[in-house]
Amino acid sequence: MTASPFRSAVVPAAGLGTRFLPTTKTVPKELLPVVDTPGIELVAAEAAEAGAEQLLIVTSPGKDAVAAHFADSSELERTLAARGKEKLVAKVRRAHELLDVRTVTQDEPLGLGHAIGCVRGALADDEQAFAVLLPDDLVLPTGVLTRMAQVREEFGGSVLCAFDIPREEISAYGVFDVTDTEDPDVKRVHGMVEKPAADDAPSTFAAAGRYLLDVAVFDAIDRITPGAGGELQITDAIALLISEGHPVHVVVHRGGRHDLGNPGSYVRAFVDFALEHPDYGPELRAWLTARLSD
Ligand code: G1P
Repeated sequence: MTASPFRSAVVPAAGLGTRFLPTTKTVPKELLPVVDTPGIELVAAEAAEAGAEQLLIVTSPGKDAVAAHFADSSELERTLAARGKEKLVAKVRRAHELLDVRTVTQDEPLGLGHAIGCVRGALADDEQAFAVLLPDDLVLPTGVLTRMAQVREEFGGSVLCAFDIPREEISAYGVFDVTDTEDPDVKRVHGMVEKPAADDAPSTFAAAGRYLLDVAVFDAIDRITPGAGGELQITDAIALLISEGHPVHVVVHRGGRHDLGNPGSYVRAFVDFALEHPDYGPELRAWLTARLSD
């Protein structure tokens, strides 16, 4: 049996982006470019590649520009085409053509679990599972969602992506209590805790921004109370499901990862992508080498 991928991918994008102020006074964090492409378009492309047909962006009031990025841009395309700029036409059109985009508004910033709960009414009755991609996290190379869909086929339930993180950084994450399966990259999850102190962390396997959730999670979200940071945490909803016998597994991703969520690591992602870019990479590499030897 082939993995039956989910149809909907949810991208929570309702935050204030305080770490990027003052830019985020008017520009949503999710639209900051990685070289020339907004981070959320990279994440949308990953979802489309894994088979998603619909992108549900959870936004807050005042962040209309995020959805506008995916809107039809035929006027701009016509102008570019009239100037013979066919390559640019393709670049401009890509976001609109990737998949259908809908927005769901989260009126109050009550946490990631609450944001995910907001999409319940936007799924069709026959959708049994959906993906969640946190737009701050770039998981590289892409493809982990497809692997996660295969694991759901095999074990049922919900499947998350995990990274093995140095223990001194673990308290920034949702952390898994796991045991091995026959596949070294797939682990069974017995518990999950949001942002534990390093000494209390049940492992060094942390949630890394990719979730394939069974729709049973909506009922769990309804039953959790505010957790870490006073917010309704998706981690706590998943922990509740586990305690009730819902199967949860992680796929341990051994590849790379970038965090677009704060300026320091965002710059790293930008430079990394720029170094790989055929137009900008060689010159940037030469400049960086000289700059670093100053
Ligand atoms: C969120 C999740 C956390 C996860 C992390 C991955 O935390 O709550 O479980 O490990 O994303 O980036 P945040 O980074 O929003 O604090």
